[in-house]
Parts: sequence; C-alpha cells; structure tokens
Amino acid sequence: MLKPFSSEPGFKQTESPNATWKLGDGLSDTELARQWKEEEQLGYTTLKTDEIEKPLLYRFLISAIVPRPIAFVSTLSGDGVPNLSPFSYFSMVSHNPPLCSVSFTLSPQKPKDTRENIKDTKQFVVSIINEPFVEAANATSIDAPPEIDEWIVSGLTPTPSTLVKPPRVLESALSLECELYHFLDIPAIGGDAPANTMVLGHIRAIHVRNSVLTGPAEPGKPIEVDPTKFRAVSRLGGTTFARIGEGYSIPRPSWRQLEGEVRELIAKREKEENPSGGSQL
Ligand SMILES: Cc1cc2nc3c(=O)[nH]c(=O)nc-3n(C[C@H](O)[C@H](O)[C@H](O)COP(=O)(O)O)c2cc1C
Repeated sequence: MLKPFSSEPGFKQTESPNATWKLGDGLSDTELARQWKEEEQLGYTTLKTDEIEKPLLYRFLISAIVPRPIAFVSTLSGDGVPNLSPFSYFSMVSHNPPLCSVSFTLSPQKPKDTRENIKDTKQFVVSIINEPFVEAANATSIDAPPEIDEWIVSGLTPTPSTLVKPPRVLESALSLECELYHFLDIPAIGGDAPANTMVLGHIRAIHVRNSVLTGPAEPGKPIEVDPTKFRAVSRLGGTTFARIGEGYSIPRPSWRQLEGEVRELIAKREKEENPSGGSQL
C-alpha cells in the first residue's frame, strides 16, 4: 500500500553527507562511507554497449542517468495544429549563447510530431514540469495521431508566448521560448536513417513565476529560483518520477585559499611513496 503524496514541500536543507571532510580524505569515515566501501566487495558489471540489446540499454540508461528534468515541449505544426509532449532527454547546454537541448528517439512506425513541427517552424517552447500537474504532463505523452491536440488531453492552459508562436504552459513555473539553433539527425549504429534527433534551442525569453523566486526580481540584481517553492519533477527509470528531497551546500574549492594545504598533502604522499626522500629532486 503506497503512502499518499505529501503536499508539504519535499525540499529542505541539511548538512552535506560528510560535513567534516578534509582535502585528500576520499571516502572518509562515516557510516555511509563505510557501507559504500563494503558494497565495493560485490564488484562491478561492465556493459559493452555494442553487445547489449538496445531496448535493454535504453532501460538501463534512463534508470542510471538520473535525475533528469522533464521538458514539456509545445510546438505548432506548419498548419498551426498545436502539440504538447514531455521529454526527459533535456538539458541546459550553455548560457552564452543561452542554449538548451532536447533529443527525440524516433521509431520507423511513427514520427515524433514535436520533431516534425520544430523542423518545419523552427520554434518551440520548453515549460518545466512541476509537481502539481505531473499526471497531466504524463498524459500528453500519449501516442496519438498528429491531428490530436494534447493540450485538451492534459487540461492545461495554453497562454501566448512573447517572441515565438507556440504557446507556453500557464501552469508551469518556468517556460523558455526557443528558436531552433541546431537540428542534428543521428542514425543508429549501422543505419542511415535518422534514429534520433537532437535539437538545440536558442532561449530567447524566459517566463518565471514570481512565487518561486528567492526574492523580488529587480533590474540588474541576481534572481534565483527557490527549490522549495519550485517543486520540479525529475524522471528516474521506467515510469518512476521523483521529488527533489533534501539539499545541501558545499563551498567551491579555491586554489588561493587551499594551495598550502594541497601542497602539504602532495608532499606527505610523496614522502609515503618514497621514504628515502629527496632523490627525485
Ligand atoms: C516523462 C516522459 C519523458 C519522455 N522523454 C522522452 C524523450 O526524452 N525523448 C523522446 O523521444 N520521447 C520521450 N518521451 C515520449 C514522448 O513524450 C512520446 O513519444 C510523445 O508521444 C511524443 O509526442 P509527439 O509525437 O507529439 O512529439 C517521454 C515520455 C514521458 C512520459
């Protein structure tokens, strides 16, 4: 029996897993690290990608490369038919230029309408999927024919974009208006026909709900999304989705501050490896 979903924000801040970790400590000496080390005894499985059946490889990879954010991609066909579908082969690529990527897995039986529409119109909108409407987002992945409007299936609200023609999802806390930057067809190994397509989108405008920001948006001031309020959904393996549970901060190491400690650590290691000393110099 599953527990009901808790509408309490899943995200809270904690200490990092080993808050007393020092340079060179490696796995260190916590309960978690000891257990992790013990599990090493079970060994490793090596999967050679050209020896494993591709559906099995897909199943494994989507369970292992996690968590992945999910992008709702909304497009219009050349004739103006709206389309809305979720994609988790989605990521940020760069911020200057501001680019995101989405990849489509193609089957010979049925083209991906989103891919066809982006190819035709060169425009799309990515809207991030948040917890309150994840079931609606999942429903838009239905393998319906191209004339079916998945917006109606979802019950979500199309609202006009500012710079591109496809609408954004009003309910989404973050939408990215994109113009096609690059369209790359990728054949399967040993094939010629496109089996995948990766598109890069040039993000021309961003819409973010004020209620998910850490503070008010003021010109020239940094603004950030608060993970507690954002309620982003990630995709794991199979049909499993996840909440962002707890988070912790770990300061970025700085050479200026840590040079002495790093050099000391290296000298100590050299001494351990070459106890007679000095001869290498
Ligand atoms: C959470 C989720 C993530 C998905 N991610 C992808 C993906 O990254 N690439 C892909 O080709 N299909 C993905 N799919 C499947 C597509 O959403 C599905 O094939 C959809 O029907 C495509 O719609 P379209 O033909 O209107 O473009 C995903 C489905 C779900 C539910």
